[in-house]
Amino acid sequence: MLTNTHILLIVGGGIAAYKSLDLIRRLRRAGAEVTPVLTRAGAEFVTPLSVSSLAGKRMFSDLWDLTDEAEMGHIQLSRVADLVVVAPATADLMAKMAQGRADDLASTLLLATDTPVLIAPAMNVRMWEHPATRRNLAILESDGIEVVGPGIGDMACGEYGAGRMSEPDEILASVSRRFSVGVLEGKHVLVTSGPTHEPIDPVRYIANRSSGAQGTAIARAAREAGARVTFVTGPASVAPPSGVEVVAVETAAQMAAAVEAALPADAAVFAAAVADWRVAEPSARKTKKADGARPALDLVENPDILAGVARRADRPALVVGFAAETHDVVENARAKRARKGCDWILANDVSEGTGIMGGTENAVTLVTGEGEETWERAGKDAVARRLVARIAERLA
Ligand code: C5P
Repeated sequence: MLTNTHILLIVGGGIAAYKSLDLIRRLRRAGAEVTPVLTRAGAEFVTPLSVSSLAGKRMFSDLWDLTDEAEMGHIQLSRVADLVVVAPATADLMAKMAQGRADDLASTLLLATDTPVLIAPAMNVRMWEHPATRRNLAILESDGIEVVGPGIGDMACGEYGAGRMSEPDEILASVSRRFSVGVLEGKHVLVTSGPTHEPIDPVRYIANRSSGAQGTAIARAAREAGARVTFVTGPASVAPPSGVEVVAVETAAQMAAAVEAALPADAAVFAAAVADWRVAEPSARKTKKADGARPALDLVENPDILAGVARRADRPALVVGFAAETHDVVENARAKRARKGCDWILANDVSEGTGIMGGTENAVTLVTGEGEETWERAGKDAVARRLVARIAERLA
């Protein structure tokens, strides 16, 4: 995965430094060469010996170490790697980076390098939420630095909140993504997402609880894999990803037209929670309460966008639908796959208590012509990346 890559790993001074020992091991196991740099504060948390033993080579720590300079100057050291990773990136290191300070080896390397930089912040929640850190983070992001995490949870200091360094496997995944050649390079992927709103009158509509989070994650993962992505989205509660063509719609009919206009595509993923029905004749004027009258809604069925696309002669090579079910998930998904004529169905249980609809995690079963596979519950981003990897395999 990371064969022939060289990572310069700067380990800052935080309790999370112990996780960086595991990160070194994982990076090397993935094939990377790791040159470690330990800040003075970092050496208070992990020993130089454990860092260099795990890296399988000497580590650097002191800007003024003449041996270091004789062997390899700091400018040269800043150029050896394909990627600089700072983990843990303390509030102090982030501040130094944002200001362009160079008063120790780590900050000097970070100022001198022209290599991409990825940081994994780790600090107390109040330090993370402090306006100064917010400012520094914004500067670092606008400088093009990739930020992984931090996660939310219990902290070593006994508090709870955002500031925990991301786990080593998550940092490894971000590192690997930077080196993966786009598996969907040259492909056009169409993704529908979010709910639809079907008007009743100018102020009321029929909607559903879809947040658009899973569809957004799929569009982002497809773009990260190098695809050109058309993202047809209903009124979602999450922002669309950057770098994709966003077509914002409200109703199922508008979504159907936008999908039609976006074809041809190599793959289409229908993650939208399209309303099954719309009001036959929405009122042009706001419906008023009248004494004792109970308004009736005359509903007509919306076009099935997925089924329509799956049956076209010029359909995408791969058509993927979703099945949000509350019972008999797999059986219903199998029947849905046949009924709609799509290639795959990603089925999920959205019954009360799963927290899936509108939540950040998903537990899905992929139903294909060959059978079913159940994926363990994971973040919607992870599910999206797994799906995109499968799509890439299928289109290869
Ligand atoms: O029939 P059901 O709504 O359960 O099917 C869900 C799948 O079909 C999803 O992939 C959804 O995006 C798609 N769909 C659609 N157009 C509709 C209804 C559902 O594309 N009108």
